Amino acid sequence: MLLGGSDCVCSMKHFTVNFFPDDKQVVIHKGATVLEAAGQVGIVLNTTCGGRGTCGKCAVFLQPLGQKILACQYEIQSDLTVTIPDSSRFFKQKILSEGLRRDIKLNPAVCKKTITVESFDPAQIEAFLNNREDKKFILANSAIRKLRKLSCDQSCQFVTAVCHINIKDNGYKVVDFERGDTVEEIWGIAADIGTTTVVAKLVDMTNNKSLASEAALNPQIKYGDDVISRINYANTDEKLSQLQQVIITCLNRLTAKLCRRIGIDKNNIYEMTIACNTTMNHIFLGWPVKQLGQAPYKPYSSEAVNTTAINMGVDINPLGNIYTIENIAGFIGSDTIAVAVAVDIDNVKETTLVVDIGTNGEIILAVKDKFYCASCAAGPALEGARILQGSRAVKGAIEAVIMNETDIDIDVIGNSPAISICGSGLIDAVAVMLDLGIIDSTGRFVSPQELKGKVPEKIIKRVSTVDSQPAFKLSKDGQDVFLTQKDIRETQLAKAAIRAGIKLLQKKLELADSDIDCLLLAGAFGNYIRKESALRIGLLPDIACEKIHFIGNAASSGAEMILLNRHFRSKATELAKKIEYVEIAHEADFSMVYADCMLF
Ligand code: FES
Repeated sequence: MLLGGSDCVCSMKHFTVNFFPDDKQVVIHKGATVLEAAGQVGIVLNTTCGGRGTCGKCAVFLQPLGQKILACQYEIQSDLTVTIPDSSRFFKQKILSEGLRRDIKLNPAVCKKTITVESFDPAQIEAFLNNREDKKFILANSAIRKLRKLSCDQSCQFVTAVCHINIKDNGYKVVDFERGDTVEEIWGIAADIGTTTVVAKLVDMTNNKSLASEAALNPQIKYGDDVISRINYANTDEKLSQLQQVIITCLNRLTAKLCRRIGIDKNNIYEMTIACNTTMNHIFLGWPVKQLGQAPYKPYSSEAVNTTAINMGVDINPLGNIYTIENIAGFIGSDTIAVAVAVDIDNVKETTLVVDIGTNGEIILAVKDKFYCASCAAGPALEGARILQGSRAVKGAIEAVIMNETDIDIDVIGNSPAISICGSGLIDAVAVMLDLGIIDSTGRFVSPQELKGKVPEKIIKRVSTVDSQPAFKLSKDGQDVFLTQKDIRETQLAKAAIRAGIKLLQKKLELADSDIDCLLLAGAFGNYIRKESALRIGLLPDIACEKIHFIGNAASSGAEMILLNRHFRSKATELAKKIEYVEIAHEADFSMVYADCMLF
């Protein structure tokens, strides 16, 4: 590809876009469309005409004047405030992003009831609650003990009962009493424990509001960066417990951070729901994992678990509930179930492919009222690990790479000097390097001599050597962020695993790429991937861009839905039975398809 002109490499100008009523904000580069900005915060708009500006389905309103614009056509040249009508949403009443989450009817498994104190007698209080609420309340020993303690306080006029829903008895188990009226103070955490990244979201359980989320690298990574190495490490009870402790400490740190940020007491967090792959689930619960690493890769258990925070050493209210969502199979865990809940998979009408990109890629395919899933060992490259200068999407990470006429532009998180590259930047960079001919379809670096006359001098100057390997410099001078030959190979392995997984599932169901009506791309960094780049490197099936929709960290959204409405717990159980697991590694042509997918 021959480029002309003389522009210099520069960081792009950025603007802030606020979306309402979702209450979401994104900082995005000048010239991006409102549609792209909405996608980055997980708001999926209707794009029936594929963004050509002819269907009018993506109409939104610019505030404060209420001017109607087409999100697909409107290029961002300043800070904006945008309101989105329901009629322009792809997932009308379905709940995917935090913004739409408020549509969930609040029906948590933990609630509070305030009582004016006339007596501290447990039997009387129990009877009072039973009469007032017309439900069966049973006081647990912990609650009775607490009542005794509170009875010493002469000035105590109100107590608040902390109740866990008791489905079996269609009533409540009162686990604790708090002094005063604390009915408004009830928070929960939805956690997504990934092999590489752990995300915790703090939610106000009185009003469905997501207050904040925090993410961290899974500290188990030092014992191996994929599930197989963790399984191998945890080969004794001692080492399993070590891994368990490490993840619990990580969750406790994230919880403490969230509490500090929002200014709440950790004792007012009464429930934590957890979505994760089967290995992470087993390690968290201290269940044996050895069998997960050996055929037939059976889970110790696939059941959802309710346990107390004190029992697990999780630092929320000691009597708070910890709920781990059920798994499907050894390599398909509760994170996939959470994604399926979030996208309402059993109500999709079209042939829908959901791809959750993580260290373990999970795929769900809904076709004609049947649901299949598969898992592929992508490795952590797309999350920034195993890449020389890779990182999560943190300040200073290159998150986008775009060609200009003579060189490349990079977009760095936080508009700061580039120090690393995250998954979306990696996918962009590889796509750009392929377009420029810096690497060929096998992923091999082409020598600078071969590039002469084909690409501008500025691009050729970016090709050099790092650690005795060919490398391409992405950053400006003075900021040395390179992509090496080995990084390209790691990216190839990850994308081949995901694409081969999709292909083998398609093959089994005799589905061509053109049969896929809708592709939902999930994952913590999914929203930031450019669809064109993902298609260019062959990560996704060859389908039109407008059929691809970003749904953000859907596992986290699903965990949040399960936290806020216990109805979704039974939904998760139902889906775990409905979704059929396909072991793609057992398919006869697995190796051939995988090798084929290695090519760009
Ligand atoms: S007008 Fe059709 S997607 Fe915008």
